Order: sequence, then C-alpha cells, then structure tokens
Amino acid sequence: MQGGSESTRLTEALGPLHPTRDELDLQAYEARLARPVRVKAAELQRDGRLRHLIFAGQLSPALLDDLAETADQVRVLSKSRAGQDFLRDLLAHRRAMLYFTQPSTRTFLSFTAACQILGITCNEVRDPSTSSEAKGETRFDSIRMFSSYFDLIIMRSPVARLAESCAYLMNDLARSAQRSVPIVNAGSGADEHPTQALLDVYTLQRTFKFENPADSPVSRLDELRGRYGHADLSTGLAHKTYGFCGDIGRGRTVRSLAMLLADYPGVRLVFVTPDHPALRMRDDLRQRLAERGVPVLEVDSFEAPVDGVPAIEAIDALYMTRVQREHDTPADQESLARLDLSPYKLTRDLVARMKAYAPILHPFPRDQHFGEIPAEIDSDPRAMYFRQARNGMWVRAALLAHLLDADGAIERYFHREFREHHIYSS
Ligand code: NCD
Repeated sequence: MQGGSESTRLTEALGPLHPTRDELDLQAYEARLARPVRVKAAELQRDGRLRHLIFAGQLSPALLDDLAETADQVRVLSKSRAGQDFLRDLLAHRRAMLYFTQPSTRTFLSFTAACQILGITCNEVRDPSTSSEAKGETRFDSIRMFSSYFDLIIMRSPVARLAESCAYLMNDLARSAQRSVPIVNAGSGADEHPTQALLDVYTLQRTFKFENPADSPVSRLDELRGRYGHADLSTGLAHKTYGFCGDIGRGRTVRSLAMLLADYPGVRLVFVTPDHPALRMRDDLRQRLAERGVPVLEVDSFEAPVDGVPAIEAIDALYMTRVQREHDTPADQESLARLDLSPYKLTRDLVARMKAYAPILHPFPRDQHFGEIPAEIDSDPRAMYFRQARNGMWVRAALLAHLLDADGAIERYFHREFREHHIYSS
C-alpha cells in the first residue's frame, strides 16, 4: 500500500520508542512514503541501477531479464569447482546483515545461501528481544548501527513501510557524505515481498522458455502448438493468463507478483478468492492494476468462466497461496469459520483439467492443516514449487551481485569460460 493509511500504521506500529527523535524522523518519512511509486523508484536507484530493492514497482521487465540472465550464469558456474571458487572469491570482502524480526525459513535461508555462493559473510538479528531494541533503541538507530558494520542490510519486518523508510535514511546519510548501504526488503508486513516476486517471475521465465524438462511440464513448444492444440502459445511471460488462488487480500507475495506481471503486454490476471473482506483483493491493488490497464477478473471459483471455459482450464500458470490466519481479527475468525473454503484447495481432478504446460507455483509455506496443495500433487510435472524455491537462491544471488556491482564480473567470467570450455546452460 502506498497511501496515507499505511503511513499512519507505520507510526502506530513503531510505537512509543524515543518519542522526540523518532517522531521527527517519521514525519519526514511519511511525506516521502506518500509520493507516487514512479517518483520513489527513481530515488531508490543509482546510475540507472538499483540502489535498494524495496517494492516491486522498481523491477521493470528489462531489469528482470538482466537479473534472470545473471541468475542463470551463477547457476551454471556453480556446477563446476572452478566456477564455485570464482564466485566465492567475488564478494569475499563484503558483509551482509540479515535483520529478520518476523518468522522466515525460505527467504532467510535462501538469502544466506545466496550470500555464501558469492562469498559474502553474513550475520543475523532475528529476535529484537536479544538486541538493543530491548533497551529502547529505535529501529532507525539499529539500522544505522548495522550499516556501520555491514555492507548490505536484508530485512523482514511486520511493519509495512519500515524497509522503505530505512532506504530513505540511508539516502540521507549518503547525501551528507556518511556511511550508507543498500537495503533489501525481504517482506514488509502485508504490503510487499519484492524478492519473492522476483523469484516467481524467474521461475515463470524459465518455464515459458519451454526448453528444459526440469523447468517446463512440457518442454517442446512445437508439440504444444501441434499435438496439444495451443496454436498461439508463445515463449515468455507476455500474452498469458495468470491465476491466483487463496488469500489475495493479505498475501504480500501476490501483491508484488501481480504488479510485476502487469508490466508485460497481453497479460490477464484472474483472482480466485471468496468474496470475504479479509481475503478478496484490496482496493489499492485493484486501483494500481487498473492504472496499468491490465484486465483483471475477480471470481469466487475455479469453475467461473473465463473466455467461455472454466477458469481452471483457461489459465497459463496458477499461483496458490495459504490463508494467512495470523492476520485474522476475531470477527474474521468467526466469519471465515462459516465459509466453505474447500473450493480454494487444489485437487487431483482440478490439476488434471489444467493446461498441460501450466506450472503451479506457491510461495510456501503451504498450510498442512488447510491443505491448499495436498502432497499428492507434488509428483505432477506441473508442480513447480520446490524448483521455484531453489530458483530463489540463484536469483537472490543475482540480485546481491547487482546491488554490489559484481554482475558485470560474473558475465565476463561466464563468457570467457563458455568460450574456452563450452560449459552448457541448464
Ligand atoms: C511468504 C511470506 O512470508 O510472505 N513466504 C515466503 O517468503 N516464501 C508467504 C507466506 O507466508 O504465506
């Protein structure tokens, strides 16, 4: 959310810490947080490159292609000992702080692994009760301290706009010639999760190349166009219908991914969710998608018609999500208990009706109690979620290389090795 109500929440959520300094700082940030995404994105860049990654609006299709290319190079280089040694040496002089004050498994570990691939030393703060925040230190002081010791801060917080505010703090420090480091948003409240959207797009980019059986349920475009009858099917993310199912209202990964997909031509987004105030799409996302001119369908069932066929048969990729119970108010708990949520779980029968090439993605964790994707679907070639998680490690390594200006060195080494040793893309 980019509007004023979220900014108010930021002040509330940060609470009564160091009233005078913090309040002044926050007032300054709130005015900046309320600006249009386009204006803010420019401030989060440096020399046409990302300086910080805070929200999906910073990632254009061209930049997503560049990051995917770097990720592919890192991935191939990591297959050989010589390539691994090269990568591990690349940023061995750099240190990263992982500041995660909200639960995380995949994002935390894949950033850790991405740092290790590039030789970046990392350290973590996960529990604020063990840091000086317990002594009344403001989060802004904590961040500034981290920037004294580390070269990059990767942060996850329940506070929606904290990462963005920290990026502005870093920019202000740079302007006054003080130490300043890049900030990466690894999940901010119910608002944004741009690096998850980055890995979701990277997964779709690989799938829709239709090249490698590990990435594509059917990897022969000629077969898909011929035998399977998808005559108009093209490679790439454009001209596709993307389905999202589950908790659209509170899933930050959906919000970030929908914004990225909206930038590709001919894309259509279908949201399958119960008509419940907590779960259906929030107005701000609906408005932002409308501003991009992307066709959006909001339906309450996989059986709802899209182009005259049930949605489950019309979509080119399906993004499942769990119901984010941790955000339930007591009123939500009561009203959700009365709803039949079974139509928002995948079954073998539903998967059998999907297009043969359509990948099933999920940011994970999936909820074993709710069962939005039963384990019996894992063996279907369309189940891409474990591959998707591994893709996250490679593309996060690419992002870190970009932020620390090492992507050019990777590219040069890759092409030299490729010419000399004919290593293969996989
Ligand atoms: C997601 C998150 O934290 O927003 N998890 C993740 O980072 N892969 C999705 C979720 O928690 O449902």
